[in-house]
Amino acid sequence: MKLFIDTANVEEIRKAHELGVIAGVTTNPSLIAKEGRDFFETVKEIGSIVGNLPISAEVISLKAEEMIEQGKKLAALGESIVVKVPMTEDGLKATKQFTAQGIKTNVTLIFSSTQALLAARAGATYVSPFVGRLDDINQVGINLIKEISEIFRVHSISSEIITASVRTTTHVIDAALLGAHIATVPYKVIQQMVRHPLTDTGIERFLKDWEGAEQSVF
Ligand code: E4P
Repeated sequence: MKLFIDTANVEEIRKAHELGVIAGVTTNPSLIAKEGRDFFETVKEIGSIVGNLPISAEVISLKAEEMIEQGKKLAALGESIVVKVPMTEDGLKATKQFTAQGIKTNVTLIFSSTQALLAARAGATYVSPFVGRLDDINQVGINLIKEISEIFRVHSISSEIITASVRTTTHVIDAALLGAHIATVPYKVIQQMVRHPLTDTGIERFLKDWEGAEQSVF
């Protein structure tokens, strides 16, 4: 399973990219708004950091024609741009058009496997089921990843599943075990994935023992 970073914060993207662990970036209107910067400038700067890795940037309109206009402007920023489209009838129409024009899409705000199937059939490059927001309403979000993975496997569907709305490292483990192609994770979760208390105490003990052994320094 690949990892994308879910943020519009360029410093977080830079740090995660330096670790060599991310294969793409996802943003959404809330994440862009949180940064308080120009949308297009932000997306361009993200591109300058991650090179040709896919960057999902979302349209704002709810009408297919306007989504297509906005998506084309985003796609003009570079080949790595993936136009993020909401899971609605207009979103599906726009996805079909983008696919016909060779523009990659990420159909977002997916909360059921039937929505994922429709998005895939409209030609979505990626589908984004939101596990955390399902957990928020007392459903088991990760079960959706299981259903979609199985449906896509059985029917040889090539759209990639991005496990989104990831809040915990357990979400990441479960998504990987269940066969999601990608998990898009906040920087905080990447940091949590790095750390383990036994790694910390292990390092401490190695260094203490080394000091006591009076070895020559490197
Ligand atoms: C995915 O592409 C979305 O940007 C994101 O994962 C939403 O996460 P949230 O539910 O924590 O806002």
